[in-house]
Amino acid sequence: MAIRVCIFDAYGTLFDVSAAARDLAGAPGRSAFADVWQQVASDWRLKQLQYSWLRAVGGDHVGFWQVTQDGLDWALERAGLGADLDLRDALLGLYWTLAAYPEVPGMLAALKAGGLQTGILSNGSPDMLQGAVESAGIGDYLDAVLSVEDVGVFKPDGRVYDLVGARFGCASEEVLFVSSNGWDAAYGAAYGFDTLWVNRAGEPMDRLAGTPGRVVADLSNVPEIAGGV
Ligand code: LAC
Repeated sequence: MAIRVCIFDAYGTLFDVSAAARDLAGAPGRSAFADVWQQVASDWRLKQLQYSWLRAVGGDHVGFWQVTQDGLDWALERAGLGADLDLRDALLGLYWTLAAYPEVPGMLAALKAGGLQTGILSNGSPDMLQGAVESAGIGDYLDAVLSVEDVGVFKPDGRVYDLVGARFGCASEEVLFVSSNGWDAAYGAAYGFDTLWVNRAGEPMDRLAGTPGRVVADLSNVPEIAGGV
């Protein structure tokens, strides 16, 4: 079945979260953070995701902003920086002013020129996603920004993936789902989407129920793949 809709995960897929943390590490007055920023960024992302999965399993949903703060607090405390509230504010602020990866605007423009519909499907809350979309300047290329807040549970709960068909009126096989999270790509594939895993870091594939249809190193070839799947 031909692809009609391209759906993207947000953080780490369209928006470059780690570059924002790296830039902050290089800013004046941040020498304590500069020494540990990679560990903090990695712990932060891992805890943020773990908390989202655990809250989905435990049935005690909170918004992504809360798990983002909770994950950062764990990471800063582990690094001995838990008392640096200015650093905490600066890191959290990055989530509202993220840049897209360089290839993103051209890639989305090519999808739109090719007649495809496009959207984001993210754990992010609507206000966080709006901030990131605006700061990255990609709003004109997106037909929908779908948030898990509409169903009150995080990925990979199937009710989240259901939001795509509900919004676009399409079958799962008409969707190309694109995520840099191996687990998200795996569950998207198990759900029935055609799936691209954007494996920028060359990581091993997750051992989960589904297997992404294709693996790419960045987003440059998405229009070509969407046209030819
Ligand atoms: C998201 C996270 C998982 O945007 O990257 O949903």
